[in-house]
Amino acid sequence: MRARTTALLGVGVLVLAAGCAGPQAGGPPGTGPQDASDETPLVGVAMPSVELERWVGDGENVSAQLTSLGFDVDMRYAEDDPATQVEQLRAMVDAGADALVVASVDGSALSDVLADAGAADIPVIAYDRLISGTDAVDYYASFDNHRVGVLQGTALLRGLGVVDAAGKPTGAAGPFAVELFAGSPDDNNATVFWDGAMSVLRPYLDSGVLTVPSGQVQREQGAIQGWAADLAGERMTSLLGPYRDGLRLDGVLSPYDGISQAILAATAELGYVPVVTGQDAELDAVRSVAAGEQYATVYKDTRQLAEVTVQMVQALLDGGEPEVNDTTSYDNGVKVVPAYLLAPQEVTEDSYTKVLVDSGYYTAQELR
Ligand code: BGC
Repeated sequence: MRARTTALLGVGVLVLAAGCAGPQAGGPPGTGPQDASDETPLVGVAMPSVELERWVGDGENVSAQLTSLGFDVDMRYAEDDPATQVEQLRAMVDAGADALVVASVDGSALSDVLADAGAADIPVIAYDRLISGTDAVDYYASFDNHRVGVLQGTALLRGLGVVDAAGKPTGAAGPFAVELFAGSPDDNNATVFWDGAMSVLRPYLDSGVLTVPSGQVQREQGAIQGWAADLAGERMTSLLGPYRDGLRLDGVLSPYDGISQAILAATAELGYVPVVTGQDAELDAVRSVAAGEQYATVYKDTRQLAEVTVQMVQALLDGGEPEVNDTTSYDNGVKVVPAYLLAPQEVTEDSYTKVLVDSGYYTAQELR
């Protein structure tokens, strides 16, 4: 199972399309029809959108692993709409779900429905994206998101020749012209990625080795709602003025492969390829990296994330305590959510075979 096939799901997985009403329980939470008639625990899995490639693979991995452990799964994609996701979660709570796994669209919009889940003693695991502003989130399974940003910022510097392969400054004085993109403002990860990237870029911005000719240096200015490729392409095009007039665009900080590919498409008219970063090792992006276009991406093995999550679900339903490796980083405004964070890995033209093909994530043939 990997992150780029269709959203077809294994046998035994209850799939409900976005917008469809789920099974409605007549009774209070926890006494839905599935519980009454079936002892098999039901796990509700809320995913953000099938439009962004990675979530298709995540959904497949999570549901396949839950199913293979004998759980029933109710997985729904919210078409990137927070209100739709709230409705879907409410249906899962009403149906008597025994646990919820939630990759949020808007991590701050779920307080009410999760309060109901909490009242019904349904454990909630935030999947990949932190859920904020509520104590009704029990655990967080994700990657070291700050590190993702550090890898992105460092890749940009290396692609520009500001640091060497070991990350040591080369002394290159520049100035290098760069533009900066950030992820969706409603996704906590976007801030963490940005802060991580800025922690390595800031000194070079301050010293003038890097310049941002658009002047748009705040995260809010570079943020792309919904991580949407079309919006990213529009923003890049709107910034092209000075570069069409001959200034060289040396690099672009991009937080996600879909955005990176849109940036590369928008800058194609310049006749050269700027250094562009990314994230998720999406198929098109990895092909682009292999072809020497997109400079780098960040690989996060979503099979491992699914494994960690499924282990959390199992521990909770067995009355045990899930394993965590971070109890300090993710304060959601109400509590510090205990987390298990996996390690992200940088991928470039030099390393994609080793990282992605040797690990079985893609076959060499798929990347041709
Ligand atoms: C995920 C990234 C992904 C982005 C867009 C973030 O929350 O952590 O892996 O690129 O959403 O889907």
